[in-house]
Amino acid sequence: MAGFRITGSGRYLPGRPYTNQDLGRIMDTSDEWVRQRTGIEQRHFCPEGQGASDLALEAAKLALADAGRQPADLDYILFNTMTPDHFFPGSGPLLGAALGCPGVPALDLRMQCAAMLFSLQVADGLFRSGAASTILIIGAEAQAGFMPWTNWAALEPGGPKPSVEEYERATRHRGYAVIFGDGAGALLLERTDEGPGLLSLDLHSDGRYLDQLYIPAGYRKRPYVSGEIVAREEHLPQMLGREVFKHAVTKLPTSVRKACSDAGVTLDQIDWFIAHQANDRINETIRERSGVPAEKVPSNIARYGNTSTATIPILVDEMRRDGRLKAGQLVCVLALGAGLNWGAAVLRI
Ligand code: COA
Repeated sequence: MAGFRITGSGRYLPGRPYTNQDLGRIMDTSDEWVRQRTGIEQRHFCPEGQGASDLALEAAKLALADAGRQPADLDYILFNTMTPDHFFPGSGPLLGAALGCPGVPALDLRMQCAAMLFSLQVADGLFRSGAASTILIIGAEAQAGFMPWTNWAALEPGGPKPSVEEYERATRHRGYAVIFGDGAGALLLERTDEGPGLLSLDLHSDGRYLDQLYIPAGYRKRPYVSGEIVAREEHLPQMLGREVFKHAVTKLPTSVRKACSDAGVTLDQIDWFIAHQANDRINETIRERSGVPAEKVPSNIARYGNTSTATIPILVDEMRRDGRLKAGQLVCVLALGAGLNWGAAVLRI
């Protein structure tokens, strides 16, 4: 029975960190509000001209070096992003070209913050079928492009004051704008003849909740980009934060229990619950409802915000590099994101 090991990891956070106070220059918000409601203290934004594939390239190089592998060793790239470089094609082939391994199949997964769960399942299938022995999984986001302001200089200490219109627009969208940040994480997975690997997966999608977190613009519009779309702010994410919060704290404890039961392990036996970093309050609620001790639920959202598809590989990389995550441990990965897509996986790493 084929399994896999994580043999390398890397992360890349672009530019300088932007604090909650920095955001307070362009919208009506406060450090206290953002910290209390989310646990976020700062986030990174990539500079204009950089896209998800550029951030991914830096993380991928680190993951390959960590594993002692070359781009030519890759059999497959799984590229998770909800902010691709272009409307089409996806960012995977761009990463392959930038890495210097053109021709390697590169699959883009559009599963938003739950993408890592889908990638683990696809990777597991590719290993089992014999289609791949070495797979690079990327999570990369350039979300600065959907921030509700254009005057980036206003965020700088001593920078120009935003116009009233800009300040009001950013404030209207502050619910999502304070949450998201940019970054990339990369995991290198290599096939093993027998486990460890993916032990179980509880996975779901439900498009009925589209309007709770989405970007209204798209190919239903003619043309799909226009001044009218921008004027109506349909190019910006719409988020019903409370609804998404409720989905996460009800659906994820159920998924965690199901994944553990399917893997034949108790929650006590799990060494780490590696949860998507959307909001510390979400993860605390899930932890309390599941009876899991705080020290088993690592968090780094204070430093990076919600980097969507990148949160889990970034956290895994931090934990591998500081020695918390060790070969042989049992890990439960859990995530919910726009779609909705959600679930939990149990892995022995
Ligand atoms: N700064 C200051 N005030 C803010 C604010 C901000 N950034 N965002 C919202 N507010 C205000 C609202 O305007 C509202 O004011 P009012 O009571 O005067 O109308 C008040 O705070 C409460 O707003 P609400 O949206 O109900 O807050 P909340 O407690 O639900 O917290 C989120 C908002 C977004 C932090 C929270 O709902 C959340 O994290 N939801 C999950 C979102 C998520 O995870 N998305 C990604 C999924 S991958």
